[in-house]
Amino acid sequence: MTSINKKIGILTVGGDCPGLNAAIRAIVRRGKQLGFEVLGIEDGWEGLIGKIRVRALKGEDVRGILNIGGTILGSSNIKPPQIKKRKAKIIKNLEKLQIEGLIVIGGDTTLKLTKDILKNFPIVFIPKTIDNDVEGTDFCLGFWSAVQTATNALDNLRTTAKSHHRAMVLEVMGRNFGWIATYAGLAGGADFILIPEAKIDFERLCRTVERRVTKGKRFSLIVVSEEAILKRGKDFKIKKSNQEIGEKVAELLSKKTGIDTRSVRLGHVLRGGVPCAFDRILGNRFGVAAVECVSKKQFEKAIVLKGDRVLSLPFSKIKGKKKVNLEVYKTASIFFH
Ligand code: F6P
Repeated sequence: MTSINKKIGILTVGGDCPGLNAAIRAIVRRGKQLGFEVLGIEDGWEGLIGKIRVRALKGEDVRGILNIGGTILGSSNIKPPQIKKRKAKIIKNLEKLQIEGLIVIGGDTTLKLTKDILKNFPIVFIPKTIDNDVEGTDFCLGFWSAVQTATNALDNLRTTAKSHHRAMVLEVMGRNFGWIATYAGLAGGADFILIPEAKIDFERLCRTVERRVTKGKRFSLIVVSEEAILKRGKDFKIKKSNQEIGEKVAELLSKKTGIDTRSVRLGHVLRGGVPCAFDRILGNRFGVAAVECVSKKQFEKAIVLKGDRVLSLPFSKIKGKKKVNLEVYKTASIFFH
């Protein structure tokens, strides 16, 4: 066993997701093998913007956490302008740690912010978000667990929708992109999926639901992504502060078709729970790859999944956000009838 004399820092930033603990555990285990002590920064940026909050992670701290949701380090959702204001303090705190490298586990906003405020700092980035909208990687940590949770919800909604001859509207997270809605909709046999990337004619949704009734299918399952845009004469978008989109779609659908309709908003349920096998494996692979990057002094890199290969991509290659795979949406839409 190599003697420990070098340090790696890790922090989890932004909305949590299943699989984070798998990555943390892998970083600690692989880190130890390569002679690193791993320092866990608590509550994301929050642990760096004031008095530094950090603890050394030992083998026993990560024992039994592979299948536990959330993050043992804690996370926070501080707005980027607030972080930018504290840039000097963050850098000062990080310098105090005397680490060889910092592994940042975050989403798209975190990556942008990290590139901006921690330029020239030895960073390796691991993409995580149930929204799956980080460019450069096929899948982000947490996405498939959220898809599984939404699929389970659709399976449950199907039996009650059938029993009561209702249309059920399931609203899912995803911010500006319809990844969860599309994939869970396809897996759960949705009869219609509304996503931000494909403006959907509301009349078409109503016709689909009505047609199903005339064919003797007296129930429908509709999945709506939280920022979906409905086209109805003039486009409209329901802001978060107003009525939520799932509820609005259910109300309009029921008014227009006379069909009894209910809506369910999954919200943060999607971010919690046990990580699925894919996310446990991805967490392990991303964590190990990130430590190996630090060990080889390969910085300003994001660990990504391309096909079945885990690679490290230079930050400069990751631009913008990733829209849903429309080929998958097209396949899902074959079943809208
Ligand atoms: O993690 C991303 C996300 O789940 C978005 O889909 C959602 O809009 C947002 O986080 C909500 O996060 P919070 O309520 O924690 O601010």
